[in-house]
Amino acid sequence: MKLGWPIEIIGTGACLPEQVVTNDDLARLVDTTDEWIVQRTGIRERRRVAPGEATSDLATRAARQALEAANLAHEDIDLIIVATATPDHFLPSTACLVQSTLGCRWIPAFDMSAACSGFAYGLVVAAQHVVSGLCRTVLLIGAECLTTITDPIERGTCILFGDAAGAAVLRPASDASRGILAGRWGADGARGRLIWMPAGGSREPASVESIAARRHYMHMQGREVYKFAVTQMHDIVRQTCDDAGVSIDELALLIPHQSNLRIIESACDKLGLPMERVLVNIDRYGNTSAASVAVGLHEARSEGRVKSGDLVMLAAFGAGLTWASTLLRV
Ligand code: COA
Repeated sequence: MKLGWPIEIIGTGACLPEQVVTNDDLARLVDTTDEWIVQRTGIRERRRVAPGEATSDLATRAARQALEAANLAHEDIDLIIVATATPDHFLPSTACLVQSTLGCRWIPAFDMSAACSGFAYGLVVAAQHVVSGLCRTVLLIGAECLTTITDPIERGTCILFGDAAGAAVLRPASDASRGILAGRWGADGARGRLIWMPAGGSREPASVESIAARRHYMHMQGREVYKFAVTQMHDIVRQTCDDAGVSIDELALLIPHQSNLRIIESACDKLGLPMERVLVNIDRYGNTSAASVAVGLHEARSEGRVKSGDLVMLAAFGAGLTWASTLLRV
């Protein structure tokens, strides 16, 4: 959909927990090898939170960095949105915890649940608050502690996921050419159980049986998700470019959700987009779900990979199934 929303991302931040978990570390716990993981996923290591550390801790650190980069103080924020599938608690929301820790005014704060598409979904919601005039300054955070819901002895999933947070501060654009030019977002709930956590919600509250059956961990049909992701990544990037009337060649950078290097490479190959114009950090962080695109955006800006006026595409997909893409002129 062509949008033309005049917003600007004026600061970004990221937080990666200190503990590094290498493929060799995992190979000591499950039947896998560094070679298998690198070849099938591109992941070499990921980060894990320390005991007692939670999603709001990472989110708050990323937020502080984003505010500093934007040259703003916590008093300037009018709304906080946290995209996460791994909140500190069912309630209160992680966004409310962040609001309190940052010392903000009594501004609205809420969580969004769109799994790995969370930050990209959040960008649409955050931008709408800015464009409508409801808020001037929005703090959007993608934050996850995926390792807390990943079964440490299930080799199909424990190799993939890591913990992280990324944050962005949005404001009305300083010049009308900047903003969200186009975007796509959608969901297919019928395929919801391709990636899900069966127990712990209202359908199957925690019980001794559900814990024993390991139903509080994420369950995933990896191959089916892979097939969906390759096609969807390609389609949303191409369709979003078409919506905006720009060619793939004009993209300065694609920041894709980091779920599997083969998914990214295969989609980019079909798009005819060279990998030099694609942000990849999956080797260092694995799949950090809602944090993934946010951390990528922060790295791209801090490493000078995007300059003023560039066209930058964000593209994500995840549990739900959900997907979202956004074409920005930064
Ligand atoms: N180490 C070694 N072998 C492993 C393994 C591991 N960590 N995980 C699975 N295997 C084995 C399987 O048991 C299977 O063995 P079998 O042939 O004897 O049954 C074999 O490797 C192939 O399994 P398969 O699941 O078909 O592998 P794959 O090539 O599809 O790779 C994933 C598995 C999970 C890496 C891949 O499917 C994937 O990345 N899917 C997308 C997941 C994703 O992105 N999820 C998040 C979406 S936001």
